Amino acid sequence: MAMNSELWLRRIVKPTVFFVSLLPATLLTWYALTDQLGANPIEEIVRTSGDWTLRFLLITLAITPTRRLSGFHWIARLRRMIGLFAFFYACLHFLSYLVLDQFFAWGEILKDILKRPFITVGLVSFVMLVPLAVTSTNKMMKRLGGKRWQRLHQSVYIIACGGVLHYLWMVKADIRDPIIYGSILILLLSHRAWSKRKEEAVRRRRAHSATI
Ligand code: HEM
Repeated sequence: MAMNSELWLRRIVKPTVFFVSLLPATLLTWYALTDQLGANPIEEIVRTSGDWTLRFLLITLAITPTRRLSGFHWIARLRRMIGLFAFFYACLHFLSYLVLDQFFAWGEILKDILKRPFITVGLVSFVMLVPLAVTSTNKMMKRLGGKRWQRLHQSVYIIACGGVLHYLWMVKADIRDPIIYGSILILLLSHRAWSKRKEEAVRRRRAHSATI
């Protein structure tokens, strides 16, 4: 990348993406402080933060396909930040459940985890996000080594499936929204499977032509 575009990415694109990603949390805080969250503000906070967790997870997964299809390779440089925002919203979501919804009623929480499968799935997905956030630094990437780091971070696909399942399991009647998120996830997974197969075919062809 030329110097100018490197500067453009660092000074304009990254800060813009950062502040735009903070907007949902800022608005939610603003609405909470000004009493604009409707009749059930706690539910609104839990739900909005849950929505944004899933959205940021899907945006993170969409980065590589978007890069491949558009040829804008610099998009990949935003992936870590957006992935960390998924974790940020997941923390907000989990904390709003823990503090606002349950107020540390550990007994109730344990009952919830054991009796409501959608909570169990949510918790597993959240716990699985932690090692990804912890190993998101360049230092950790080097320490783990490319292959192992990649294998670990592939669990984000399972986490996103967990997120969709959590939502699908939570809703009782209107399953339109979880179906929309689920369809986007299936599309992203299919693209990944397709590009993996293509890469494999190229590798095999290369290996074959090297032997003759
Ligand atoms: C990666 C992890 C997670 C994702 C992607 C996620 C996503 C979501 C989504 C999309 C919703 C629905 C929002 C709506 O109705 O518009 C939701 C609701 C909810 N989630 Fe999560 N969630 C995660 C983890 C958790 C965890 C760890 C807990 C608690 C232990 C939790 C508890 C809840 C609760 C209580 C609701 C709302 C239920 C209601 O209002 O009836 N979630 N979540």
